[in-house]
Amino acid sequence: VSVNLKDNLEVMADEAHLQNAFLNILDNANKYCSQKPSIIVDVSRVQQFAVLDFSDNGIGLDKAAQKRIFEKFFRVSTGDLHTVKGFGLGLSYVHSVITAHNGQIELSSKPGKGSRFRIKLPLA
Ligand SMILES: Nc1ncnc2c1ncn2[C@@H]1O[C@H](COP(=O)(O)OP(=O)(O)OP(=O)(O)O)[C@@H](O)[C@H]1O
Ligand SMILES: [Mg+2]
Repeated sequence: VSVNLKDNLEVMADEAHLQNAFLNILDNANKYCSQKPSIIVDVSRVQQFAVLDFSDNGIGLDKAAQKRIFEKFFRVSTGDLHTVKGFGLGLSYVHSVITAHNGQIELSSKPGKGSRFRIKLPLA
């Protein structure tokens, strides 16, 4: 994992939940990858928000899966990594944590090209 921190940003947050949320995203980036995982985290400031981009070189998600990705128990059942274990709870938890902090999370992804999860959190 490489982290690029451009500014020193402060948010008011529940440290444990936020850590868990970030770990879930990193865990997924590591799990849903068919090559040597390379994960980049970019942190920057956009207006009154801290923006955290988690980019991976994993298997990516098609449009249908992207729509449902934050649903509880949703998992992509097909593909070459269907044997990877999980409950489908990680990202629904991440979504709850981020929205509870008045933040936003969005996904951009292309099958075979990787994914980018963008989290915006209001600055303190
Ligand atoms: N970075 C990613 N690249 C490709 N697919 C992903 C990525 N992150 C999540 N997915 C897909 O989205 C599904 C839901 O992810 P989520 O983290 O909610 O559950 P999980 O990893 O299956 O299980 P859990 O996190 O509860 O152990 C995954 O099963 C996987 O199919
Ligand atoms: Mg997960």
